Amino acid sequence: MKILLLGGNGQVGWELARTLLPLGEVVGLNREQADLTDLEKLRQIVQTIRPDVIVNAAAYTAVDKAETERNLAFLINAQAVEILAQEAKKLNALLIHYSTDYVFDGTKNAPYFENDATNPLNVYGESKLAGELAIQASGADYLICRTTWVFASRGQNFVKSILRLAAEREELNIVADQIGAPTWARLIAESTAHIVRQAQHERGAKTFVSGIFNLTSAGETSWHGFAEKIVKLVQLTCAIKPIPTSEYPTPAKRPANSRLSTERLTQRFGLTMPTWEDTLKLCLEELK
Ligand SMILES: NC(=O)c1ccc[n+]([C@@H]2O[C@H](COP(=O)([O-])OP(=O)(O)OC[C@H]3O[C@@H](n4cnc5c(N)ncnc54)[C@H](OP(=O)(O)O)[C@@H]3O)[C@@H](O)[C@H]2O)c1
Repeated sequence: MKILLLGGNGQVGWELARTLLPLGEVVGLNREQADLTDLEKLRQIVQTIRPDVIVNAAAYTAVDKAETERNLAFLINAQAVEILAQEAKKLNALLIHYSTDYVFDGTKNAPYFENDATNPLNVYGESKLAGELAIQASGADYLICRTTWVFASRGQNFVKSILRLAAEREELNIVADQIGAPTWARLIAESTAHIVRQAQHERGAKTFVSGIFNLTSAGETSWHGFAEKIVKLVQLTCAIKPIPTSEYPTPAKRPANSRLSTERLTQRFGLTMPTWEDTLKLCLEELK
């Protein structure tokens, strides 16, 4: 099996470059080697490599900046994704793509299911939804994994920001009225490897059905609860004070409820998601 991995330097991409290895030949490309803003070059890259599976971990992920960089966000998260889907269709390759809870407006009073109505609150969410729709319209075999609140020992993320700030300050104000499931990039990457393996078996047996799957840790917390847990686990003394979203205005609006049900993932792929606390401990051990 030949796997083309895009976004190999991102939080999830870096982990995928390791977890996909036992599945076959992995051609991992970073932004310098495959820039998603160059659509024709991207098309050529896929046509030259001729993968059996494309795993796209590259994305425009600057949620606040996207409010003023709409065209760039759509170019990377929608137009480039459409090219990947078109080329996957031509090659009969499987396309694995990642999306986000930000396709929802967060007003549901329970975890979101995959087929709940979308209604993004910000440009990033709109661009990710446009990417999902382009894949669905392409006719390619695809699996879209929606995830939330990604953290990792590499890259820029909430865990690393809190570790840095909590070491410098005595008190931090953290939003307590947005809830979700912090999800370790390695969990996403290891789950993806299982998913790809099963999907390729299903495709061989002609039983494969494309679809969207929520892929997050089990459990839920607020950003405040997440920060408190990080500080407690590394035994810092910084006080974590809860504040409402209204006291922390950002250019992009964010959903209050980011919880996604992983029932469909468990039913189809037999994967049982660990809690966010358990994976946070493992990530912090690695960061030590
Ligand atoms: N982070 C989250 O909290 C979160 C939540 C929900 C869903 N997701 C989704 O999960 C997936 C993985 O996210 P992540 O957290 O791993 O993101 P990340 O750490 O920001 O990584 C994104 C990667 O995309 C690359 N990239 C950006 N623009 C590119 C371009 N023009 N051409 C090629 N590569 C480009 C970046 O390259 P450089 O390294 O060169 O910058 C980076 O390696 C994405 O689809 C994202 O939308 C993330």
